[in-house]
Amino acid sequence: MEPGAGPADLGPRRGADGSFSLWSEAFGEGFHSAAGALSEAQEKFVRPSQLDRWRPGQGLVVVEVAVGTGTNTAALLQATAGLDLPLQWWGLEQDPQPLALALASECFRSQWPAPTLARLEALVQSDRLLWGDGRQAITRLPAALQGGCDLVWLDAFSPRRCPQLWSLEFLAQLAALLRPEGRLITYSSAAAVRAGLVAAGLQLASIAASDPEQWSSGTVASPSPLGESFPLRSLTAKESDHLLCSAAEPYRDPTGQASAATLLAERRLRQSQSRAVSGSAWRRRWGVASGFCQGRGWATEGGGSQQRAAQEHGLGAQGDRDQKGEEQRCNQIRPQINLEQDSEL
Ligand SMILES: C[S@@+](CC[C@H](N)C(=O)[O-])C[C@H]1O[C@@H](n2cnc3c(N)ncnc32)[C@H](O)[C@@H]1O
Repeated sequence: MEPGAGPADLGPRRGADGSFSLWSEAFGEGFHSAAGALSEAQEKFVRPSQLDRWRPGQGLVVVEVAVGTGTNTAALLQATAGLDLPLQWWGLEQDPQPLALALASECFRSQWPAPTLARLEALVQSDRLLWGDGRQAITRLPAALQGGCDLVWLDAFSPRRCPQLWSLEFLAQLAALLRPEGRLITYSSAAAVRAGLVAAGLQLASIAASDPEQWSSGTVASPSPLGESFPLRSLTAKESDHLLCSAAEPYRDPTGQASAATLLAERRLRQSQSRAVSGSAWRRRWGVASGFCQGRGWATEGGGSQQRAAQEHGLGAQGDRDQKGEEQRCNQIRPQINLEQDSEL
């Protein structure tokens, strides 16, 4: 089924926190992690933004990529309510259905105080939400945003499902939006994404995971050094080493028009020609297990918990959208990947 084909593509689901979420048949992936949309919004986007860095009255400029159900947007509105931070928000999204389904859902609506919901509805009905493929919509952002954004939140489907929004070229466009102290924040800790952010001239921090079983809750990238103030922390030696292996081969989309299949195939080809140490060598070096489910973070062998083993592949439950929240589907299907062939590694 084509993405954005209509409501039949999208099914409702709830995360562990009971919050509203969706499953996309077309992308074969949930919108949020198994923890739930609200938990994920807080842990992976709001908290790493460290909004307490702003003083009352100071403007906050945010670009949100992949608005989806509007959960992250509402979480931002909620977090800034009462802080007196004049908010300039822009969003990029190609499919109006997730937002329409969320706003029609009593479960979603009941998650927010009335003023937050009212602000969300006003915002997403305004010209601040740019509809269309993010690769084209980004060119419609006001020129003044170049180098003027405080926060870019990137919450696309996982790189293997939606490589269009994780290419070197698209990441560079997002990086160019940032002020010197601005932050690009994403749930992904995939090596290809992190390497792309470094190539775009950004410095990296890992988002400390609240679950001790996870090694990262995602990535924060900035033109300036990020420091170690919680929940930000430096990359571990294992994470840094991951950026040197073939898993770090970025997705390339110089025309901004390529299909997902083309981006994936071309990356696989470059990986096969790469002189970088293989993902499996990196795995052996760091004692990472050798099998997991493509679902969402359910490893099938190796020491430690299933989830941790998957995460340590850089495809972990926190690292790739398709490793999150698909426990039901995963339990049903449990497909196995030969990691030697896995392009992500
Ligand atoms: C993981 S969901 C986003 C979840 C969202 N942040 C939320 O809070 O609900 C990914 C979103 O990316 C959108 N999307 C997929 N491909 C896109 C593209 N090329 N350009 C813009 N949006 C895209 C999908 O329609 C979907 O809403």
